Amino acid sequence: MTDAAQIVGGPLWVGTSWKMNKGLAEARQYVRGLSDHVAMAGLAGVQPFVIPSYTAIAAAREELGTDSPVLLGAQNAHWEVGGAWTGEVSVAQVKDAGAQLVEIGHSERREHFGETVATTRLKVAAALEHGLVPLLCIGESVEVKRAGGSSSFILEQAAGALEGLTAEQLARVLIAYEPVWAIGESGRPATVEELQQPFADLGREYGSATRGLLYGGSVNLDNAADLLGIDQVSGLFVGRAAWQLSEYLTLLEMAAAHPKAVAPDPTERAR
Ligand code: PGA
Repeated sequence: MTDAAQIVGGPLWVGTSWKMNKGLAEARQYVRGLSDHVAMAGLAGVQPFVIPSYTAIAAAREELGTDSPVLLGAQNAHWEVGGAWTGEVSVAQVKDAGAQLVEIGHSERREHFGETVATTRLKVAAALEHGLVPLLCIGESVEVKRAGGSSSFILEQAAGALEGLTAEQLARVLIAYEPVWAIGESGRPATVEELQQPFADLGREYGSATRGLLYGGSVNLDNAADLLGIDQVSGLFVGRAAWQLSEYLTLLEMAAAHPKAVAPDPTERAR
């Protein structure tokens, strides 16, 4: 299976976490359909990724096979390799089940399960150590946004989780900016305008130093193209709008048709 170090990805990343949804049969059906579609469509310039519940990772891996262009992830993982941690699943275990990427620090984990900056740092380090792509999620609450503190809050979350990494390690990290106020049923979609400043600030710090900066929170078929157009955005992390395979496929097609999906000419880059 492709190790994180060999994953080129992008230039556009478009993935989904199913959160606490889908049993095995549904997971298999979704992943099989996705795999068939990607094999047929090619989707040059777009890196799809899917993040099922722990229980469906191995089945999803079976459906994808070992050389799939679709990356498979876990929604969380413990930093220790093993031990007396009842109810936890380690980075080593999700890797063993077939995951290549680990979502870390999603706002639902921070809000309901005690995830802290300190634990996100341990998880990022463990993911890197085991050759998985850490997908670090950061985002501010509506109160922080109202007080005008969005950028400093998310930069602090990122700095805390990424502290001490070498440039080479940082280059393997993906960051998803997901404002808490924009996520889920109770969230409201962010406008392009209100995302410009946070992405400019994140971009200055992490744009070229990491694998990429994704946006997440109420992404849907209507706003996806505009969100991809924001400076510094190199992908979308999608919840509800991608839980139906047909909608996810449409999002992937939209990304593939986006001007940013065209890889830059290497000779131009060298100039
Ligand atoms: P949503 O979820 O797209 O359903 O708002 C996004 C997320 O939680 O990553």
